[in-house]
This record gives sequence, C-alpha cells and structure tokens, in this order.
Amino acid sequence: MRVVVVGSGAREHALCVALSSDPAVSALACAPGNAGTRAVAEPLTVDVLDPDAIAALAVSWRADLVVVGPEVPLVAGAADAVRDSGIACFGPSEQAAQLEGSKSFAKHVMAAAGVPTAQSWPVGGPAELETALDEVAQVVAGAPYVVKDDGLAAGKGVLVTPDRAAAVAHGRAVLDAGGAVLVEEYLDGPEVSLFALSDGTTVVPLIPAQDSKRRDDGDAGPNTGGMGAYAPLPWAPPGLVEEVLATVLQPTVDEMARRGEHFAGLLYAGLALTSRGVRVVEFNARFGDPETQVVLPLLETPLAGLLHAAATGTLADQPPLRWRDGAAVTVVVAAPGYPEAPRTGSPVTGADGEGVLHAGTAVGPDGSVVSAGGRVLSVVGLGHDLEAARRAAYERVAGVGLADAHWRTDIALAAVEGRIVVP
Ligand code: AMP
Ligand code: GLY
Repeated sequence: MRVVVVGSGAREHALCVALSSDPAVSALACAPGNAGTRAVAEPLTVDVLDPDAIAALAVSWRADLVVVGPEVPLVAGAADAVRDSGIACFGPSEQAAQLEGSKSFAKHVMAAAGVPTAQSWPVGGPAELETALDEVAQVVAGAPYVVKDDGLAAGKGVLVTPDRAAAVAHGRAVLDAGGAVLVEEYLDGPEVSLFALSDGTTVVPLIPAQDSKRRDDGDAGPNTGGMGAYAPLPWAPPGLVEEVLATVLQPTVDEMARRGEHFAGLLYAGLALTSRGVRVVEFNARFGDPETQVVLPLLETPLAGLLHAAATGTLADQPPLRWRDGAAVTVVVAAPGYPEAPRTGSPVTGADGEGVLHAGTAVGPDGSVVSAGGRVLSVVGLGHDLEAARRAAYERVAGVGLADAHWRTDIALAAVEGRIVVP
C-alpha cells in the first residue's frame, strides 16, 4: 500500500513512524512534512489549503491511501477531493468535519443524538453577549464564565474566567473580528481525550489520553495547542471507554449517517468527567496533537490496515485492536514566545534520536535543522508505567538543544502522584 500523510506537525511525524513500521506499507510520503518526517517518509510539496492540489498529488504519486492530519484541509474539503479522484482517504468530508469546524453545528448534532454536553448560548452580537452571561450565571452560579470562538481557533479561542469583564472583552474581540461566539456552562472535573476510528457506521475506540493545554507548569499561563500528553490514564474509571462509545461516539456517528454525512475518519471526543457525569467539551475531526504521539506507540495492531478499513467502510471486518503494556509520555518543546509570538529560525540540535518527533522544524540552507513553528519538538518516552515513561521522556528532552526553549516539567506528574480525582 502506498500511503501519503498530509500535514507537517509532530502528529504527522507520529503517524509516519507508525505507518512506516507496518509491513503492508510499501511506500510512504509526507506532504509537506518537516525536518523529522524525512527520515521515514518521502517529502512531497503541497499547499495543504488547496484540496485539488492534494488530490492531484495523490494521483500523480499513485497513492492507495491519503491520511489527512490537520483540521484545516479537512474543513476545506480535502477528503472530498481525494475521494472524488478515486483514492481512499482517511478523513471526514468537508460537511462531516463541521463537527470540529463549527461548535454550534456540533451542538446541534449532539442535541439530536442525545449526547451529553455543556449547555450553550449562541451569541450573534454584543447585546446578546450580556444576556447570555446573565443566563449562564443563573444555571451554574459562582462558576467561571466560558466564552468561545465558534470557529476553528487551534485551541486558542476559548476563555475560561471568573472575571465577567474579561469574559465580555473576549466575546467582543471575537465578534469584532467577524466571528460568532458561544457562551457555555462551566464543566468541572478532569479532561480526557478519546479517539475513535469510524468508517461512517462502525466505531472503534482507541485508548484514552490526557493532554496539558496550558503553557506553564501547574496549568498556568495561556491556552496552547497542547504542551504534552500521556496514556493510558491510571485514574480513569473502569468502563469509561465503553460508556463513551455507547453514549457519545456511536450516537454521534449514527446521527451524522442519518443526516447523510457519514463520518469516516478519526472522531476525537474531548470529554470532561464532571460531578454530573461525562460531558463532551468538544469534538475534533482528526487525530489530536500531542495525544497521538502517546497513543500510537502503544498500538500494536498495524496502523495502515486500520486507517484503510476506516476509509473504505470495512472496519467491522477488523479483528479487535491489540495494545502494548506500559505507558507513554510526550513533552512538547516550544519556541520562546509561544503561543503569542514564537521566535523561529533557531538551530535545533540532538533531534534525530528515537522518540524525538518533530513539530515545527525545517531544513536550513546548509542541511541543518531549524525551528519553524511555535511547537518545535514533541519528545516521547515509553516505560513499563507512567513514572518510567515520564523519566524516559525528560531524559530525551535533556538531550535536545534549542536556545531559550520552553517546556513544562510536570507532564503526567499529577497522574503519577495520584492527584487526579474524578468528582
Ligand atoms: P475547546 O476549544 O472547546 O476544546 O476548549 C479548549 C479548552 O478550554 C478545553 O480543553 C477546556 O480546558 C476548556 N473548556 C472549554 N469548554 C469548557 C467548559 N464548558 N467548561 C470548562 N472548561 C472548558
Ligand atoms: N490536543 C488538542 C488538539 O489536538 O486539539
């Protein structure tokens, strides 16, 4: 099988590593990839924002399967274009990707499917913003305000704050920029990312992971695309995956099918385990980053066959997934200034070892590796338990060089120390 992975982050590097170890894969390319993916996948040039260009590339490279990593090409219709050209594509259609692309669309689907999520108030203008904040304050008295950009914002469009003036200012900023706003009920409790493969009918959940979205230790600082992750979750209640499959994932896929918008690809449920039960925080329509970097190394079943089955409606024929024992931790090494104004173009050293996945890197004019994005590396450690995996990850982080780099020192620490409690 000839496989092209579309995208250029550490998620795509993790996908390439997993696919390159699958004997069914005869050739692997990454478009456009980064300085790290070149070790395992042929680099191809493409504008990921151009669905027709992706489809044309897949045809000329004679791909049997295209795996779309990021949300932006999916929301732009990349999977439709690839399928229209007769090539199997792992990734939902433009319409189905609205589960991620529009938070209000996702809320409609969840309401129709009876999927538990935060109560929300759509806001069209400044006057409605104040009314919505009044109403939410009556529903969850004393809880922080949650104000969201309705569209794609790479995890950075949400403000959770006890400060009403700050909530109003964030909502107004999104409205002034021409966006739409949702005000939401606050969800307490720890967050879980659960990925599921779907072919539009059959849903196969992977293992739960947790990411750390805030920039700094102790969950301080601004929201980011994700600063680290770990799997599995020793504190997760027994039966969590089965419960989420039955109450969230399968009903959502069924509702999309009922609408004629089969969801074929990766359905990512961002969940909060609240005092009132499991609630969906958000859906994503693709693998999560950095959670993929810890879930895929634990998957023993060859990946290409699974993704091809999801792309071609044959997931029901696949044997049950096999998982390795042990745990995985990833620590994101970010550029100085991330997330507001990351500094790029700096030399990156020690980044060619096992477990060092590249996120924002490029090959400099002299062939060396330079930083090219806010999240530069995603360093993965494996171990027989979470503590050992954490140690392995931080040992590898110590071996990489990037001037003024920033990383969190507490990824998976609360779980190792037994401090995560489901209310
Ligand atoms: P989202 O872009 O919807 O995933 O939100 C990003 C992050 O904001 C989530 O991972 C949560 O940490 C936080 N968040 C979003 N919605 C809520 C909510 N209703 N209650 C509490 N925290 C939330
Ligand atoms: N880890 C968060 C995301 O991929 O959206």
